[in-house]
Amino acid sequence: MDLKRCSIETQAVHAGERAGRLDCTPVSTPVQRSVGYLYESMADLDAVFGNVRPGYVYARYGNPTVSALEEAVAMLEGGEAAVATASGMAAVHLVLLAAGLRPGEAVVAARDVYGASYALLAGPIRAQGVRVTFVDVTDLDATRSAIEAQRPRLVFVETLSNPLLKLADVPSLAEAAHRVGALLAVDSTFTTPYLLRPLACGADYVVHSATKYLGGHGDVLGGVVVAPEGRIRELRELLKLTGANLGPDSAWLVLRGLKTLVLRMRQQCQSAMEIARWLAAHPDVERVHYPGLPQHPQHKLATRLLRSGLYGAMVSFELADARRALRFMEALRLCLPATTLGDVYTLVLHPVMSSHRSVPPAERERMGIREGLVRLSVGIEDAADIIADLEQALAASRDA
Ligand SMILES: Cc1ncc(COP(=O)(O)O)c(C=O)c1O
Repeated sequence: MDLKRCSIETQAVHAGERAGRLDCTPVSTPVQRSVGYLYESMADLDAVFGNVRPGYVYARYGNPTVSALEEAVAMLEGGEAAVATASGMAAVHLVLLAAGLRPGEAVVAARDVYGASYALLAGPIRAQGVRVTFVDVTDLDATRSAIEAQRPRLVFVETLSNPLLKLADVPSLAEAAHRVGALLAVDSTFTTPYLLRPLACGADYVVHSATKYLGGHGDVLGGVVVAPEGRIRELRELLKLTGANLGPDSAWLVLRGLKTLVLRMRQQCQSAMEIARWLAAHPDVERVHYPGLPQHPQHKLATRLLRSGLYGAMVSFELADARRALRFMEALRLCLPATTLGDVYTLVLHPVMSSHRSVPPAERERMGIREGLVRLSVGIEDAADIIADLEQALAASRDA
């Protein structure tokens, strides 16, 4: 129909849309917000619906901008395929859903994981009648015994844990999981594919909160799961039903962030090393958790597993008590006390108040998360400026 001959009501709806299809390719992936897609014939549409030919029909089933991000993260992880989700927690949940856990079946998970992952397992997943056993993955023998005793469907760990930076020996855990027919899901948010590629170590799923280092700029919430093609197909079918999809604008932001992932990670890891050394020598700091320090109990394992010379950009350290930790955070002038990590900005967080608030105090104590613990996410600022800010805040937070 010739739009020029239509009424203004109709023109307002259709004018400018679907016009000027170009036979050239934009250099940078555009944001495609369309929910629906048109095909020349109904047979073509039917073929896309039936997965007979590739294409898009509805945004909850797939979107070209989101696909670009999925392809990029799959490549960086050395995996076959990926699926992007609305948040990191949606990615964790999707993997748990795919495990098809029925009452009586088991999950073995690292005790020292992100608070919401812990709460999801200990709350709703347990409430479905699933046996959830939390283990200290740094004790490999105890973890192997738990896996053999529980015979779980899924083992869930973080590469570098939040917030105590305990390292999971992914190759050994993959072997232990596979021996009893379990799958290994690894949350690699803290390491990113630049420091470690869990699939190459034998993991079955890699999970990311793309909100953190992949996006990198603190302006987008997202998640990604990377796995072999067949498993991703299964996750995509579940996502069609649960609808926790990543939107195209968010996908574009993460895709843009990925381009500087390596530059940011290199800088952030080098600064973190310098800051961890400085903190370790500071008389007000009771303990520093950083795998790059030779005194870290897993320093050798970290040197073997992670990219040469880099140990991550997260540093946790302990002050005397919560009062001191909170006074220190209030006194910071450059580092930001914000509840996230992995950004270009240096961020500090009090795990007891925020990320691990939903974990019962006794369990927190068991995890080793004490009241005076502060988690530092090192940004891309000059390390000397970050240290100067930490120094003045430590001095300002001392008792008069
Ligand atoms: C290791 C880890 N996994 C998952 C998540 C959840 O990610 P999101 O906040 O994007 O849902 C977080 C959040 O901090 C995290 O630190």
